[in-house]
Amino acid sequence: MKRIILDNYEAVSSAAADIFVQQLSNKPDSVLGLATGSTPLGLYAELVRRYQAGIVDFSKARSFNLDEYYPISKNHPQSYNHYMRKNLFDKVNFAQYHLPNGETGDPQFECSMYDIAIKSAGGIDLQLLGLGVNGHIGFNEPTVSYPMSTNLVGLTDSTLSANSRFFSDGVKQPTQALTMGFGAIFSAKRILLLICGASKAAITEKLFSGFIHTDVPACLLLLHPDVIVIMDHEAESK
Ligand code: GLP
Repeated sequence: MKRIILDNYEAVSSAAADIFVQQLSNKPDSVLGLATGSTPLGLYAELVRRYQAGIVDFSKARSFNLDEYYPISKNHPQSYNHYMRKNLFDKVNFAQYHLPNGETGDPQFECSMYDIAIKSAGGIDLQLLGLGVNGHIGFNEPTVSYPMSTNLVGLTDSTLSANSRFFSDGVKQPTQALTMGFGAIFSAKRILLLICGASKAAITEKLFSGFIHTDVPACLLLLHPDVIVIMDHEAESK
């Protein structure tokens, strides 16, 4: 695991964009694994800026997002489908993009089809990840055994509380989600983990403590052969 510590959020976003641009320049038909949350917003804004400047092209690229709330309509302002269209897909030229379908009536079938689609695409070349305050990646919450396949999961109180800031009063927050499991995440040839802000300092300290804490899903990344972590000073302040 390679660690890069930068001054601030803007520097992290720009360095992450460099990695995406390099990936697409080396392999224009890359399969990209994408993430949501507040952390990648700066990266996506930077990729849009570079696309508009003619520096990067997504026309041969395909993407698979990590997760989606369940149940949720694609057009719900807090769905990850809406987030991705608003922040990236409507502004650049991806050949194809995929997210788990939060509208499905058959989540198990949806999860199986999602894994098949990732496999048929040849697996993921570059997987972007953020980090939950409890160490989750995607929506793989701390537990005793982690699913390999895409799954319907219940969200923990910690995650519901951390993400409640996005749901205004009176808007019901889903308590479940569809998330890629460790099979698809570990199929990625390279993983890019972004960690920003003081709220992540405690879990970042645990992640880099030199132990694989089984109650910190992100610790499993320590076993992947090619992970780059880019973080800001606030996240590594402990
Ligand atoms: C959500 C997403 C994760 C994301 C995490 C951190 O729960 N499912 O993929 O990494 O939040 O979010 P943030 O970047 O807003 O701290």
